[in-house]
Amino acid sequence: MARGGEHTLLVALVVLLLFGITLGVVWWRQMQQHMQQVSPPRAWTPEALDSLGQAFLQRLQQLLNETLQQGPEAAVRVCADTAQEFTAQFARQHGISLRRVALRWRNPRNRPDSVEAFWIEQFQRWQAEGRTLDTLVVLRSAGELRLLRPIVLRSALCLMCHGSQQEIPPSIAQLIAERYPEDRARNFQLGQVRGALSIRVPEQ
Ligand code: HEC
Repeated sequence: MARGGEHTLLVALVVLLLFGITLGVVWWRQMQQHMQQVSPPRAWTPEALDSLGQAFLQRLQQLLNETLQQGPEAAVRVCADTAQEFTAQFARQHGISLRRVALRWRNPRNRPDSVEAFWIEQFQRWQAEGRTLDTLVVLRSAGELRLLRPIVLRSALCLMCHGSQQEIPPSIAQLIAERYPEDRARNFQLGQVRGALSIRVPEQ
């Protein structure tokens, strides 16, 4: 009898221990979830956002170079299909709002808002005055941090899709006309302001 009693006690203790561990794990998980939910959004500095923007532009350029190796027509297709997708994905991944915008846009979704348009015009004036366009505009208003960086046409490569009628090969011109019937992003010259990279994050 005594031995049986000991056995029951042992089983009860083990059950209690397992129950305790399960409770602990559940509690720990809930705490973690809770902490994830209430942890404040990342406090961005303009410098950190700017280098993220540079990394984005570099990656996009890399994508363009990779696809150009499959031929310029393939690049237009890829550009048209992936530019928006890649931009949205990059922004989501880093929890920021990020866009390429232009007054003379190819994709109407890259149309600037009034603040962006104002600064692109400013960049154009600076470019006409011969200033180097290594400018970063940092704006803070209405609980928002905004960054704008000019995008300048620095490579002859860009003219293959954004240059004059002579510079754009007919097969590319045709593809662009099909995909972007409202295209305004041709007849650019080297050194001109093509648009801007625009980044926005809420600020605490
Ligand atoms: C192979 C063709 C091709 C080349 C080369 C190319 N682009 Fe584009 N570009 C496009 C297409 C297509 C779009 C529209 C993308 C979209 O739908 O968002 C575009 C859009 C843009 C935009 C966004 C604003 C808008 O007008 O919609 C900028 C800025 C831009 N290009 C700059 C450049 C620069 C700078 C270069 C050179 C480094 C370059 N592009 C080279 C095809 C090209």
